Amino acid sequence: MCGIIGYVGTENASRKLIEGLKILEYRGYDSAGVALLSKSELSIIKATGRVEELEEMVVKKEVKSEYYCGIGHTRWATHGSVSEDNAHPHRMGRVTLVHNGIIENYLELRARLEKEGVVFKSETDTEVACALFDKYYEENIHPCVAIYKAVREIRGSYAFGIMFEGYEGRIFGLRHRSPLLVGSGSDGMYLASDITALLPFTKTYSLIEETEVVELRENEAIFYTHDGIYDPVWQEATMNYDQAKRGGYSHYMLKEINEQSDALRKTITPRISGGLPDFSHDGISRDIFQGIKQIHIVGCGSAYNVGCIGARLIEEYSRVSASAFVASEYRYSPPVNMQGTLIIAISQSGETADTLASVRYAKLCGCRVVSIINARESTLARESDKVIYTYAGPEIAVATTKGFSTQLAILYLLSVYLGIYTSKLDTEVAKLKIDELKRCEGVVSNRLKGAKSVESLAELLYKKENCFFIGRGLDYFMCLEGALKLKEISYIHAQAYQAGELKHGTISLVENETPVIALMGEERLFDKTLSNIKETKSRGAFTVALMPKNEKSPQECGDFVIELLGNSLIEYLFDELLCVQLLSYRVALLRRCDIDKPRNLAKSVTVE
Ligand code: G6P
Repeated sequence: MCGIIGYVGTENASRKLIEGLKILEYRGYDSAGVALLSKSELSIIKATGRVEELEEMVVKKEVKSEYYCGIGHTRWATHGSVSEDNAHPHRMGRVTLVHNGIIENYLELRARLEKEGVVFKSETDTEVACALFDKYYEENIHPCVAIYKAVREIRGSYAFGIMFEGYEGRIFGLRHRSPLLVGSGSDGMYLASDITALLPFTKTYSLIEETEVVELRENEAIFYTHDGIYDPVWQEATMNYDQAKRGGYSHYMLKEINEQSDALRKTITPRISGGLPDFSHDGISRDIFQGIKQIHIVGCGSAYNVGCIGARLIEEYSRVSASAFVASEYRYSPPVNMQGTLIIAISQSGETADTLASVRYAKLCGCRVVSIINARESTLARESDKVIYTYAGPEIAVATTKGFSTQLAILYLLSVYLGIYTSKLDTEVAKLKIDELKRCEGVVSNRLKGAKSVESLAELLYKKENCFFIGRGLDYFMCLEGALKLKEISYIHAQAYQAGELKHGTISLVENETPVIALMGEERLFDKTLSNIKETKSRGAFTVALMPKNEKSPQECGDFVIELLGNSLIEYLFDELLCVQLLSYRVALLRRCDIDKPRNLAKSVTVE
């Protein structure tokens, strides 16, 4: 949610900022802006819409000036509409800044500052912080002193990149519950919300800890705490810039869908030993389950959907009680007894504010936290007791695909692991389950090779405005993911329903040609779901069945049938996933939607 970039060095700062902003755009794309410093002036340039629009304006301006220092921002609007006034950077008096996060007490601060004579130009919480820094930045005061004074009054989350008049050629950075990194390059120093934005310039980075303020100069970064200056720990990024490029694909989403069988192999292989799950690779032994009475899985969006599947698998294989929770709700309706609860937090980015808040709450209750994360250099990774990384590589498209599939693989492995621990799964059965998981990689690549039927279905659906996904058991949770994918990238209203529940109200929405897509991998529930398909058909629905090959003739099961690949439930689930991802992609393409950057969304949701 909002991306920050900063640069000071020997190269052209405007190019650096624009390049960084293009990478950070997935964090928000309502508006973008830069504050650029040359030897003679500070220019603030802002544009609503995409970074490309900002780039055009910057290029025009660049002709006259040589910028060597600057801060940039890409915005996902929270406080204040999408407008140039509300776009960052904000300037107040002698302070210019960019911000990611939310200042929760901004109204109170704003009223106080207005009484003191401050006149605000925007509706944002950010401008209030800017005014506060300016207020404390008096003559002969080092910016750090002003920063520490101001943040004492700020409640909420923030990462700031700040430039102070009188300290030209320096950028100050600090953060609280929002990510911010410093990059050290051969041509200067960088500030960025995430590691991918540093990759075109440098792989050497240092995390900024809470309570620290960093001062970037052309060839050094000084890290301050309340007690003085200290030496930062520099690390080397494990990712390559090439991994974050679109390659020959028309969209990141398509690239990421196609990367899934590879991502699954990389994620699964190191966690199997002797045909059984093994998490020693992650520093996890069976001790992690000692004394555990229940498991709570927390996540947002797709991470919650996959968590629902994980909870069901854990209960089935280990008989340990497990539930999935939407992270934004978890703290506000916590279960009565948290004792003996293991938390599994799921997050592709590791930065989702609500997931982090759930984890912090659970830790206060004394719970152990194991997280399933894709992004290595993330806040959640640092705050968890144990981390199981998915090796999906950078995910750029806002709608997650390979993040979800690799999370599903880890949850499956964990549930079998736990099943062996509780002795509810016999070793031989466990080995069969792992064999089934290993076959999923092949299911995924076969679906990718033969997606013709999904493409034909997309042609039939793309002009619709409503769609239902129905299923029972684990299929229902995959319906949640299917509906979410279709909604978020194609803007078709889609709803997931437990197949048997539809007739208790919602079936009244089914009319002639309403698409009803049934996911039917749960073979034991096949006939029940088939009856529900028939109920909608009788009301005129256009019925679609994604079903395993069985004795039923396809014509009997739906108006359009896709035969699921594989021979087991987990294989069917992976194929369903691929089908709903490809279907959403194709439908969005036919509707000419902005697939990688759907309206109103951002990939990394760092506000609650
Ligand atoms: C956003 C994305 C979703 C994602 C969710 C959780 O809403 O658009 O695709 O599932 O955040 O993100 P996380 O990084 O925590 O998995």
